[in-house]
Amino acid sequence: MRKISFTAPGKLLLLGDHAVVYGKPSLVAAINKFVTVTTSDNRVKESTFVAAARKLFEQKYGPIKSGFKIVGFDSRYGLGSSAAVTVAVAKTMFKLKGIRSTNKQLFDFCYRVVLNVQGLGSGFDLAAAIWRGVIYFVTGGKKIERLPVKQLPLVVGYSGVKADTATMVKKAAKLIDSNFLKVSQTIVNQGKAAILKKDWKKLGELMNINQAVLRKIGVSTGKLERLIKAALAAGAYGAKLSGAGGGDCMIALHPDGIQGKLLVERAIKQAGGEVLKVKLAL
Ligand code: MEV
Repeated sequence: MRKISFTAPGKLLLLGDHAVVYGKPSLVAAINKFVTVTTSDNRVKESTFVAAARKLFEQKYGPIKSGFKIVGFDSRYGLGSSAAVTVAVAKTMFKLKGIRSTNKQLFDFCYRVVLNVQGLGSGFDLAAAIWRGVIYFVTGGKKIERLPVKQLPLVVGYSGVKADTATMVKKAAKLIDSNFLKVSQTIVNQGKAAILKKDWKKLGELMNINQAVLRKIGVSTGKLERLIKAALAAGAYGAKLSGAGGGDCMIALHPDGIQGKLLVERAIKQAGGEVLKVKLAL
């Protein structure tokens, strides 16, 4: 049988974590960690997201005989491997049935799958996996706007702890108030303007403010704080956790030039973080 194959990238949340679950905007970056899904004659036991995507697809469009071979990136880092797998599998199934879909239709299908599995979530990671680049995203895909930017001076540090998004969202919900949501929304809108101007210093300042309010809703950790502090002391324009918190990764914006980048990377390593080599996936 002719093989069909699709890839989809992982993500980082630049600004707007948690607030994006509550109808507020966020800024998302797709990164060069990819999942590849290829059709296979062998049907093996499927992971939760793949099984849920198959189930929803088959309910709507009829059975899919094919299995899927999935080659991904490490799910430990919290870089959106489940969303990338969901998107790549969905694209493969649509292709197998010869159904044409727009990006938005693909998004809506995948978002339904994610809600079926975890009951909550904004879907920003799916948008990153589908549209790529840097995206201004509002909950559930109410707004998805790709920004004209081709690179960001990003450094990523893994805290060594795997966090569970659903658990963190439920934990944060208890402390999220209207002030948190208002601050987050303002920061994201200013961040969008900063990205359009390629004003990384401003974007860094906004990341620091975002981190301060995320800290208040209890989603930062001692380890993340150590990595963030080290990055800032080494000259980063800004640093924050990225995603649900409770572990996973932090991100920093390094000053211009390779030297600035190396200093921030070294500081994160010395503080006990694992530096991940990451750039935008376009
Ligand atoms: C998780 O990576 C980011 C959250 O905002 C949840 C979501 O947007 O689905 C905490």
